[in-house]
Amino acid sequence: MAISRRVAGYLTRASWIRAMFESGIKLKEQYGEENVYDLSLGNPHLEPPPQFQEALLELARNPIPGMHRYMVNAGYPETREAVARHLERETTLPFTRRQIVMTVGAGGGLNVFIKTVMEAGARIIILAPYFPEYEFYISGHHGIVEVVQTDDAFQIDVAAVERVMGPDVEAVIINSPNNPTGVVYNGEGLRDLAAMLRSKEVEYGNQIYLISDEPYRRITYDGVKVPWIFHHYRNSVVITSHSKDLNLAGERIGYVALHPGIQPIKELFRGMVFNQRALGMVSAPALMQRLVAKLQDVTVDVADYQRKRDLLYEALTKMGYEVVRPQGAFYMFPKAPGGDDVEFVRMLKDERILCVPGVGFGREGHFRISFAVEDAVVEGALVGFERAIREIQ
Ligand SMILES: Cc1ncc(COP(=O)(O)O)c(C=O)c1O
Repeated sequence: MAISRRVAGYLTRASWIRAMFESGIKLKEQYGEENVYDLSLGNPHLEPPPQFQEALLELARNPIPGMHRYMVNAGYPETREAVARHLERETTLPFTRRQIVMTVGAGGGLNVFIKTVMEAGARIIILAPYFPEYEFYISGHHGIVEVVQTDDAFQIDVAAVERVMGPDVEAVIINSPNNPTGVVYNGEGLRDLAAMLRSKEVEYGNQIYLISDEPYRRITYDGVKVPWIFHHYRNSVVITSHSKDLNLAGERIGYVALHPGIQPIKELFRGMVFNQRALGMVSAPALMQRLVAKLQDVTVDVADYQRKRDLLYEALTKMGYEVVRPQGAFYMFPKAPGGDDVEFVRMLKDERILCVPGVGFGREGHFRISFAVEDAVVEGALVGFERAIREIQ
């Protein structure tokens, strides 16, 4: 066989979003781009905020000598300092640049951190529904994925997490605002999860890391604030990027922030810096580091997403869809009418609407809508959503 059995296995499992992507290309060829309603991708249609272009132009006009060379693997001290100051303002915790590693997006940060703590054969817990790449990140570093379902409102079910705990659990990954549900985990659930993990750390005599993957933190609606895991749990890390809050997904810029009290802090930092090299990433992109250092308090126009969230939520619930109202990110995860998510997504495809079945996120019976698209796509899809639910009722 030309590729490893492991990768061949991943390719089969990774097929849902890819399958929708390929269907989309075919449908668009057949019916024309404007007649296909592609709600399958988390690749925002909005441009970065104007401050990004301004900072880019300013840097191009006044280049800094050596700005395209290698740098320390953790990233420029000035950028890490800017991130630390931002986090200090937001959390009132004493961050310094020695807790910040600039990474190749959140995906790069997750890989760097997981590789740093992962013992072969140990487990990392993820909460379903989840961002599907976690499975590949964890098993890619020889860990075992333990999936725990959230409750009916997609909030953390702490008792269910506790049931699968054991001394071989290295970490728990949470993601809020969540892809694919748009749910923000509430403070109560985070507090109880933290208390349970603390008692397990004492029982097992080792660290259990809580990894909070937060690329959507700044995309919330109705003034909802995402609680900081840093306020609940010392052995925690926040991993994030500017893929969504500045719409720079293609530029691959993010960071890992270690809680100032995490143990063992120096070893974790050194391990991550080493793994930037070991994974061949070396450092986060130099140009982007210069720019985001100036943009720590800038965010895309969230009102655009909120308008689409409102429009879709109102319309779908009126048609009879059961939906948990998203409080953030730009996804919705309705129940699939009839219960079979794969079949319902196929029916939507007949209406030239592309969504992803819940099975791709570890939760069957639902489907994901991404509304980071032009208004016309959301509006155009409504007739097909209505026809599909009528057909099944
Ligand atoms: C929950 C979640 N985590 C991580 C990522 C990866 O983001 P990045 O582009 O920063 O690697 C995504 C991207 O869609 C995501 O939805």
